[in-house]
Amino acid sequence: MYYSDETVEEVIARNDIVDVISQYVRLTRKGSNYFGLCPFHNEKTGSFSVTPSKQMYYCFGCHNGGNVITFIQKYENMTFGEAVRVLADRAGIRLPESNDRAAMEREDRRAELLSVNREAGKYYYAQLRNKAGAQGLAYFRKRGLTDETMQRFGLGFARSSTDETYRYLKGKGFSDEVLRQSGLFSFSESHGMRDKFWNRVIFPIMDTGQRIIGFGGRVMGDGEPKYLNSPETLVFDKSRNLYGLNIAKSSKAKNIIICEGYMDVIALHQAGFDQAVASLGTAFTSGHANLIARYARENVSRDEMTRYKEILLCYDSDGAGVDAAKRALTILREAGLRAKVISMSPYKDPDEFIKELGAEEFQKRIDDAENGFMYEIRQLEGEYDLKDPSGKSSFIKDAASRILRFDDPVERDSYIGLISYKYDVSASSLGEVIRKLAVSGTQIRPAPSPMPTRNDRSGISEAAKLPQCRLLSWICDKPQIYGAVRKFITADDFADPLYRKVAGILFEQIEHGTPDPADIISHFTDEEEQRRIAEAFHQSIGELGSINMQETALRDLMMNVKQLSLTRDDREENDFDVIIRIRKEMEELRTAKLDIAGT
Ligand code: CTP
Ligand code: MN
Repeated sequence: MYYSDETVEEVIARNDIVDVISQYVRLTRKGSNYFGLCPFHNEKTGSFSVTPSKQMYYCFGCHNGGNVITFIQKYENMTFGEAVRVLADRAGIRLPESNDRAAMEREDRRAELLSVNREAGKYYYAQLRNKAGAQGLAYFRKRGLTDETMQRFGLGFARSSTDETYRYLKGKGFSDEVLRQSGLFSFSESHGMRDKFWNRVIFPIMDTGQRIIGFGGRVMGDGEPKYLNSPETLVFDKSRNLYGLNIAKSSKAKNIIICEGYMDVIALHQAGFDQAVASLGTAFTSGHANLIARYARENVSRDEMTRYKEILLCYDSDGAGVDAAKRALTILREAGLRAKVISMSPYKDPDEFIKELGAEEFQKRIDDAENGFMYEIRQLEGEYDLKDPSGKSSFIKDAASRILRFDDPVERDSYIGLISYKYDVSASSLGEVIRKLAVSGTQIRPAPSPMPTRNDRSGISEAAKLPQCRLLSWICDKPQIYGAVRKFITADDFADPLYRKVAGILFEQIEHGTPDPADIISHFTDEEEQRRIAEAFHQSIGELGSINMQETALRDLMMNVKQLSLTRDDREENDFDVIIRIRKEMEELRTAKLDIAGT
C-alpha cells in the first residue's frame, strides 16, 4: 500500500459510498440498503446493492463487491493509488506528500518508463523509414500495409545489432536501472546490456491514453520465436490492455471485434474495421472483459438499461482458436457480457481472409456471426454420438445444464427454442430435463471456468463458506453478540485463511470500538480477496425471532465454524492437542448459556 492506513481511512470516510456510486448508477432505496442495475454485468433486475451502514457494495448477480475505492478502481479501470487520488480530490483531501513518498517514487518511475518507451518507439519508427529499415519496410509492404496504416499504428523496425537501441537511449540520458526495468534489454555479466528486439519489425502497444506501454516484434520470414513481446513492467499489464483499443475506443461501429494477432487488428483497420482489438499474446482474461465492458457500453444514461455494442470473437480457424473462443465466451459470460463468433474458414485468420476475399465478404461474415452459446453447443456435438439415442440424450443433458447457467428466464427460453429446433427434440422434453437438473441441484451455477477469473471461487465449498461468512456478517451487524462469541471463538477458529485474517481485524476493531468492514477491505489488495470479503459481509442472517431462537442459531453457527476448523488444511497430524482442545470447547459450547439478550 502506497498510502498510509490513516490516509486511506480518511479517503473512505469522507467519500460516502452512496453519493459516489450514485454518480454512476441510479440507486433506489429499499429499507436500509440501496439497489440498482449492476454496472459490472448486463442485467435487467437490480441485484447490485449498496449498504451505507457498511460503506460497501455487492452484486448478488456477478459477485463483484468491495468498498468505495474498489468501486472506482473497477469502474474506471484504475490502480488502487489512482482511485485513492481521485477520491481524495473529490473530498478535497490534500494527500500528505511526506506520507506517500513511495507512491510518488512509483509514479516517477512509471513516468520515466513511459518516456523510455516513447523514445524507443520514436527510434524504431525512424529506423523503419531509414536505409537501415529497408528490409522491414519491404516486409510490411509485402503484407499489404499502406504507408498510412504503418503510420497510424506507429510501426517500426529494430535493426540487426547487439546494443544499438541501448546506446541510443543511454545517449538520451536514461539510467541503466530504468533501462533494465523497461524490459527492452537483456543483461548478463559477460555481455552487459543487449537489445532484446533486433532484426524485427516492431509493433508499439499503446494504452487507451495513447501512451506506449510495451512492444511486440515479429521476425521477418520464418524464425523462432515468431513474435517477441515486452515482458510485463510497471507500465505494462497484459491482462488489462488490448492491442488497438486506443483507436477502436472511438470507433463508430455498432460492434467490437476481438481477434488474436497484431496483424489481424492492423489488416482489419486498414479494411475499414476500426473496431478491432487483440489480446496481447496472452489468453483473454477477466481484465480484458472488464475493459471491453467499459468501452462497449453504448449509453451511460442513468435511466435506461445499459446497452452494449455487439461483441464479436474472430479467432483463428484452428483448434487453438476454437479453444480460445470457448474460453473467452466463458469469461465474457461471467462478466455479464454476451458475444457472437465470426468464422474465418476456410482461411486461417482475419488477416488472410481480408487479403483473399476483401472487406465486403468480411462484413457478410459479421452479419452471419453465430450466437456464442450456440457456437459452444455446436462445439459440444463432437463429443457425443448423436446418431445413438443414448449419446443424444447425454448431449441434450449436457446442453441443458449449460442453459441453466443463464439467470434470465427469457434468455433460457430462447435457447430452449433454438436447441429443440436445431437438434430435433421437443421443447417440452428439453424443458423437463432442465427442470430435473435444476431440482437435483446439478450444475445450476456456472461450471468452473478453464482459466482463473475474477469470479472464480476460492476453491472452498459452499458448505464451508456459508457458516464462516454468516458468523462474520452477524458479528459485524450486531457487535453486541461479540461478548458471547469471544468466549468460544477466536479468529484462529476460522478454517479459511482469508476469513481468519478478516476475523482477526474485525475482532480487533470491536475490541477497540466499532466494526468497520469497508476499512477491512482496504487491508487487502487482491481483487478476488476483496470480492470475497464483500460477499462475506453481505450474507444475510434473516429474521430469527425470539432471543431463544437467536441463541440457538448462533450456537449452531459457532459449532459449525468450530467443526470446520478441525479440518483446517494446515493442521498437522500432531496437532492432536489442538484437536482435543477444540473438541472440549465444542462440548462446552453445546451446553453453555449464550447471553445475547438485549441485542
Ligand atoms: N504471439 C506471441 N508469441 C508467439 C506467437 C504469437 O505473442 N510466439 C501472439 C502475437 O500477438 C500474435 C498472435 O499471438 O499476433 C497470433 O499469433 P499467430 O496466429 O501465430 O500469428 P499471426 O497473427 O497469424 O501472425 P502472422 O500473420 O504475422 O504470421
Ligand atoms: Mn496471420
